[in-house]
Amino acid sequence: MERKLIIAANWKMNKGPAETVEFLEAFLPGVDAVTDRCDVVVAPPSVSLAAAGALLADSVVALSAQNCSQFDEGAFTGEVSTSMLNELGTQYVILGHSERRSIFGEEDAVINAKVRKALAADLKPIFCIGETIEEREGGRLEDVLRTQVRDGLAELSAQDMNDTVVAYEPVWAIGTGVTASPEQAQEAHAFVRSLLADLFGAEVAAQVRIQYGGSVKPGNSAELMGQPDIDGALVGGASLEPDSFRALIDNAFA
Ligand code: 13P
Repeated sequence: MERKLIIAANWKMNKGPAETVEFLEAFLPGVDAVTDRCDVVVAPPSVSLAAAGALLADSVVALSAQNCSQFDEGAFTGEVSTSMLNELGTQYVILGHSERRSIFGEEDAVINAKVRKALAADLKPIFCIGETIEEREGGRLEDVLRTQVRDGLAELSAQDMNDTVVAYEPVWAIGTGVTASPEQAQEAHAFVRSLLADLFGAEVAAQVRIQYGGSVKPGNSAELMGQPDIDGALVGGASLEPDSFRALIDNAFA
């Protein structure tokens, strides 16, 4: 099954509207040279989505949010709804990122509610999973991934899975400079795909794109993207500069 690569920039809490515009003005020229082989997605902070959405309206680069509320509207101070994201031209939303799980206490049930809310609003979830170093070293990698996948994707249909991207991000590789080896990443991705096959059938599992995230850089994107079950990258630090993000994408085909 041919799966198109998808490489996404997760800027986390970096770049207000002015810096977002500055980045995109430098990054967008010429990016259409790669988008037939790779979907490119940029996820600015929510206050910068409007500025990015205006520049990306007719662009081959897609816009993603970094979170959304599981509620429609009302008394939820500080939250952003899916309809607000729709209004800004958002196409994807990152959900279940390990920083949301560990710092903001989001558990599988809440993440699942957000995933379903996003899909109902025609937003494509980038659904993140991954183990801590203690879990990996304690032999619990497969149990952790199984629970995150089963509970986070509960009640989704096969069609929903067609619209969902999974991101495997081992927590110990995020922002640490320590990347999972291509073999470690491939093994985890193949396991995640087998979990998806158990839940949604082999045909659905074969077309779901699974990104790797955790210290992806221009220097290691080729090796990682060359693995059979790695279909893209979710990139933090190396996506903050246009040249570095572009080099990482170009190298992914090397
Ligand atoms: P780094 O690329 O900075 O390790 O961040 C990975 C990540 O968390 C992307 O969502």
